[in-house]
Amino acid sequence: MKTFIIDRIPQKETGEYYAPEGHPILKAVEAIRNGELVAFPTETVYGLGANALDPIAVKKIFTAKGRPSDNPLIVHVFSVDQIEPLVSEIPGYARTLIRRFMPGPITLVFHKSAIVPDEVTAGLDTVAVRIPSHPVARLFLKLAGIPVAAPSANISGKPSPTELSHVFTDLAGRIPYMIDGGSSDFGLESTVVDVTGDEPSILRPGAVTAEEIAACCGSVSGIGSDYERDSGYANAMHNGKVGSPRSPGMKYRHYAPRAEIQLPSASFGEAQQDDMVRLLREAHQAGHKTGVYAGDGILEALRATGIRFTGLSFGPADNIAAASAGLFNALRQMDEKDIDLILVQTAPARGIGTAYMNRLLKAAGKSSSDESHATRTEICTVLFVCSGNTCRSPMAEYYYNGRTDSGTNDRCRANSAGIATFNGLSATEEAMDAMQQLYGIDMAHHRSSRLHEHMLEENDLILTMQHSHKAAILKDYPQFGRKVFTLAEYAQGTGVDIEDPFGEGSEAYEECARAIAGFVDKAIEKIRLNNVS
Ligand code: TXA
Ligand code: MG
Repeated sequence: MKTFIIDRIPQKETGEYYAPEGHPILKAVEAIRNGELVAFPTETVYGLGANALDPIAVKKIFTAKGRPSDNPLIVHVFSVDQIEPLVSEIPGYARTLIRRFMPGPITLVFHKSAIVPDEVTAGLDTVAVRIPSHPVARLFLKLAGIPVAAPSANISGKPSPTELSHVFTDLAGRIPYMIDGGSSDFGLESTVVDVTGDEPSILRPGAVTAEEIAACCGSVSGIGSDYERDSGYANAMHNGKVGSPRSPGMKYRHYAPRAEIQLPSASFGEAQQDDMVRLLREAHQAGHKTGVYAGDGILEALRATGIRFTGLSFGPADNIAAASAGLFNALRQMDEKDIDLILVQTAPARGIGTAYMNRLLKAAGKSSSDESHATRTEICTVLFVCSGNTCRSPMAEYYYNGRTDSGTNDRCRANSAGIATFNGLSATEEAMDAMQQLYGIDMAHHRSSRLHEHMLEENDLILTMQHSHKAAILKDYPQFGRKVFTLAEYAQGTGVDIEDPFGEGSEAYEECARAIAGFVDKAIEKIRLNNVS
């Protein structure tokens, strides 16, 4: 297939781009309306677009990228009124986010409407929507007049493209049109925010920061907020491991160059500089062809060692926005220079630094010697925890496994345990009755287990009934912090506890069982989303 590159789009005096009659961009517009693929620039990274309402067109994206088709795509639109038909509901706080941040580097995940095909959402009942602010993207989307599904325009596994040359390297000959829009301003993909719960939940950090979203909505959960502080994120960073991702695409070890990436363990100041000098000396001794991506100050200190290396600077060392904007380009350049080890300056995980570190850790994950890293982010086993392990947590376990057996989720199995209990107790009569009555589930074989450290170790996700359970676990075993949530918190980002119905009538047990089932349904959906591969 021949690939046409569209550039030199004329600008008015106001800076706005326009398409005079006969301009080649109109060909690309026609092509995308007719089910063809078009790569186009955005302020984050370049996108590979197809008509989002045309399943056959959308399938072409996966073929061109070599991307698994069960990873959902972001739908790009020109204006806010194009969002309404794609979604079933826009909560009030999501409207606030739209007003504040769109157009811009943010993507919101809504419950979808019936018109959005499964090919776009990978069968999920949610859809991700974004209004880019890049003036060329705006012109293209306006002229196209259709919602455009677009992942980043790279071959799956490579760093996202931030310049047309990157798109060309990856996709020339595979798609008919590429539109040039210069270098992407932000250089990291958009912030993905789930707006289906009671508060915004960040699924992928980006240029719109957790701090900004919290300031706008009053609260936020997910990566980039409490998630990292509570979760031993700093430690995980040092080990090159990242917390469980909840945006399906986040589990891939992508953004990755061929070379191995090494990161200093200190994230700022002289300690970081000293660390990088040490890493450079070690790399030199080991005979590596080394590249360094860092700020000016650090590069200067490294040059003072007299060791030869390829240095790429992003300017002043504290300019993490610039570091982010140049990261993917730097990683690609290092590959072109056949570098086999890249040392990269890190940043404190706050503000844009959260997104920068997130991508950097993913890139480093690819080449880290710890090959099990990829599978560790997948959730296969879930442990439900309550106090006695005779009512709430067994209900959750049995309900979860019932759903699993019915084929909705064939990967994961659940277990349960109690924080303050004895081994070998049966479930309470009332709990057994409630599960039998409501769901036809037989819990006769359940026997209680007392929570033990090895269970926290072995299970991929720990869901507690109350905050007090979570707090008790974190107090004794802070090292597992990144995988412990309350059930309601994990399922829908709310703070509610599921109270113990012990000693109350059968109605209270049934109510409790229903509440648990509702949350477990949502948790299964989240886990499925996490595990899409
Ligand atoms: O900045 C960006 O977002 C770029 C430009 C082109 O807009 N696009 C981009 O697309 O990065 P992609 O496909 O590389 O990443 C999309 C991310 C993935 O992590 C995917 O799992 C997540 O968004 N996503 C898409 N639909 C979702 C949904 N319904 N629920 C949760 N996450 C979703
Ligand atoms: Mg991508």
